[in-house]
Amino acid sequence: MASAKRKDEPLFALILAAGQGKRMRSGRIKMLHALGGAPMVGHVVKAAAALSPQRLAAVVGNQAEAVTGAIEAAADGAGAGVRFARQERQLGTGHAVLMSEPLWKGAGKATLMILNGDVPLIRPETLRRMLEHHRRAGAAVTVLTTRVARPAGYGRVVRDTSGSFQAIVEDRDATPAQKRLDEINAGLYCADLEALFSALRKTGRDNAQGEQYLPDVVPILLRQGLKAEAFLHDDAEEVLGVNDRAELARAGKTLYRRRAEELMASGVTIVDPSITYIEPGVTVGPDTVIHPLARLEGRTAVGAGCVIGALCRLTDTTVGDGAVLLDLCVASESVIGPGAKVGPLAHLRPGTVLDEGVHIGNFVEVKKSRLGKGSKANHLSYLGDAVIGRGCNIGAGTITCNYDGVAKHQTILEDEVFIGSDTQLVAPVRVRRGAYVGAGSTITKEVPEYALALTRAELRVIKDWVRRKQEERKAASAAKAAPPAAAAGRRSRRKS
Ligand code: UD1
Ligand code: CA
Repeated sequence: MASAKRKDEPLFALILAAGQGKRMRSGRIKMLHALGGAPMVGHVVKAAAALSPQRLAAVVGNQAEAVTGAIEAAADGAGAGVRFARQERQLGTGHAVLMSEPLWKGAGKATLMILNGDVPLIRPETLRRMLEHHRRAGAAVTVLTTRVARPAGYGRVVRDTSGSFQAIVEDRDATPAQKRLDEINAGLYCADLEALFSALRKTGRDNAQGEQYLPDVVPILLRQGLKAEAFLHDDAEEVLGVNDRAELARAGKTLYRRRAEELMASGVTIVDPSITYIEPGVTVGPDTVIHPLARLEGRTAVGAGCVIGALCRLTDTTVGDGAVLLDLCVASESVIGPGAKVGPLAHLRPGTVLDEGVHIGNFVEVKKSRLGKGSKANHLSYLGDAVIGRGCNIGAGTITCNYDGVAKHQTILEDEVFIGSDTQLVAPVRVRRGAYVGAGSTITKEVPEYALALTRAELRVIKDWVRRKQEERKAASAAKAAPPAAAAGRRSRRKS
């Protein structure tokens, strides 16, 4: 009966993100340290938003503006709205929750889920299971717990001899016997809204840190004859609390491994997942092979049957089916068409669009430029602000001179244009369909269709120049090397 009623109660979610995170030893608040390409708190917001709470909120304090921005961005990305409460002084997790009270005005009966902002690996499925347990048990509060090998730093779960949950004791307040307990508080809770706030008002600050602790509501609610549940979760890694840089690195590793495992399960080959960094928002099609130390970031989407070479870094980049990126390519905000071949050592900057079958070779930089189907720039070039048609060949050492010191200008190469090596295209400039530009040219004017354009000083050939030079050099060094003895002899002969 009770559980049926509870199921209809609205769910609210609250993220605690006001703390500084002293153990990070950072000028930047802990919540904003990046993990898998997003601020730590963003992952928690996403997990909470996945449960579609009727109200989503956060408590902020330290660097409130920046934290608010990060939380809003994450909520926005998840299609959720979010409200904020301020905690001006960080007087503990219980105090932080109390600061949120105005946000729940007039709510009536509700379940409040509370999440520490530094538990970034938590999965929505786990939160859902905790919520179900909480509602089924008819508890006033449910604390998510787990067993860890090294419980130091965490609040310990204290149970009585019959195993009933009694309290959470913080590490710094724990007796030596309690310190040996390996079941810990993960910092994730469900609570009956009304019962929680009335219990919070009864918590004190008589502890090692002089703070108002959220977990202190457990014994208070039990004394009132209400139910407090410890919901034991078996994956300790998922509820890792990130307090210092070592834990940040560990959480990052787990996040990347998770994404790699999902992708491998969907048919992607990852040669060495332990040193491959694929962010959670990245998609990869089946039969793509990803080599070691590749980093795929942001909204990158890689198609099927592609090759991503070692040490490639792709940010917000789309890669079409069957494209091959050889080692050491960097691309951001670019589109690489199907069957394209890029690298090794190519740099695709924002606004690059490579159509189907384009080849971009080593030491080629492309910026805000489109290359049409089948066009090639295989070596040592800079292509910026260029519109390049189909079937063009751009020779080694070609440079679009797109900047005149004040503004950027466009280079247009129509279909089937051939640009000889070491050409400078001084923009704005256009080379019309099928035209050729001879090697070593500086093009400053439009080149008509099917014309040959070249700017070249006339070739001079000076016959035997090298031989003459060699003979001159020989004679000069012979004079220098004349033996001093001979000179002395000449002098002495003159004397006698
Ligand atoms: C907390 C728990 C501990 C648990 C651990 C799990 C308390 C008292 N202790 O300890 O039992 O094992 O998390 O990771 O709750 N915060 C505020 N305002 C404050 C203090 C903290 O918003 O005044 C926020 C922090 O930004 C953080 C979260 O609350 O996101 C937890 O704070 P933290 O100081 O990391 O608590 P722990 O010592 O890790
Ligand atoms: Ca913590």
